[in-house]
Amino acid sequence: MIRAGVMGWPVEHSRSPLLHGFWLKQHGIDGAYELLPVPPESLETALRGLAAQGFAGCNLTVPHKQAALAVVDHVDATAARIGAVNTVVVRRDGTLEGRNTDAFGFRENLRAVQPAWRASTGPAVVLGAGGAARAVVAALLDDGAPEIRLVNRSRDHAAALAAALGGATIVIDWSRRSAVLGDAALLVNTTSLGMTGQPPLDLALEALPTTAIVNDIVYAPLATSLLETARRRGNPVVDGLGMLLHQARPAFAAWFGVTPEVTPALRRTVEASLVAR
Ligand SMILES: NC(=O)c1ccc[n+]([C@@H]2O[C@H](COP(=O)([O-])OP(=O)(O)OC[C@H]3O[C@@H](n4cnc5c(N)ncnc54)[C@H](OP(=O)(O)O)[C@@H]3O)[C@@H](O)[C@H]2O)c1
Repeated sequence: MIRAGVMGWPVEHSRSPLLHGFWLKQHGIDGAYELLPVPPESLETALRGLAAQGFAGCNLTVPHKQAALAVVDHVDATAARIGAVNTVVVRRDGTLEGRNTDAFGFRENLRAVQPAWRASTGPAVVLGAGGAARAVVAALLDDGAPEIRLVNRSRDHAAALAAALGGATIVIDWSRRSAVLGDAALLVNTTSLGMTGQPPLDLALEALPTTAIVNDIVYAPLATSLLETARRRGNPVVDGLGMLLHQARPAFAAWFGVTPEVTPALRRTVEASLVAR
């Protein structure tokens, strides 16, 4: 039996066992995907113990994504660029490879929901400069976004992200978040604002063209007030669940040898768990 799982602290909230479990069953694979509660001080020991316990690898979530960079033996180019590891693969020789599939998940989901979308269409406004923002900006730059307006509460975090990833990234003060929406082709919220238990996202959409795609990567709740407001004024919207589902595909393929698909049935299953909590 092939084992995989998700390491985090806490980790009980993770939907990853549900979605990987769905694919294991769908493909008739003799495997297991487990919750792995690991406190920060035990990360290295836990990662080093994977191979001996029959694990093909694991996902990493808060607070391990950055710390793992210093533990794994190999870091792939995407994870190095983003500065975080969300997927660990145990190689044949027992060494650990760190990867990051969030940029893939963001891009694949946008393409799936809005097939006509091209990053080159026009400026993108990205709210936030945390770990998720790094993946989103990397994907947009790789896909040829002509300009990225990076708006963050802490200007220094945005400046560090822009310096690390380069490209046509402009740092904008948080106070100007509503004013910089004019002529944008894409708006992405990568802050935690609007998430259950967090303050709301205070953003006026009046300046945003109604043709602009609005993507909120927050997925709890699924219909954030940003998406509801955007939908009401006619903007095409993309919710955060799709990114979560798509980022899991390359990890599943690496561990279990089958590239799974994001189907309506999978989405319904994970969506039901979001409503239930
Ligand atoms: N759909 C998916 O697959 C997916 C994947 C990853 C993350 N996410 C979601 O994305 C969100 C961010 O995750 P992350 O890992 O990037 O978190 P993070 O590294 O902690 O970054 C949080 C971001 O939110 C900003 N922020 C927090 N509180 C704020 C406030 N009161 N006012 C203004 N800005 C505030 C932070 O600004 P400062 O820099 O000023 O602190 C920072 O830019 C979470 O809701 C997470 O669930 C979704």
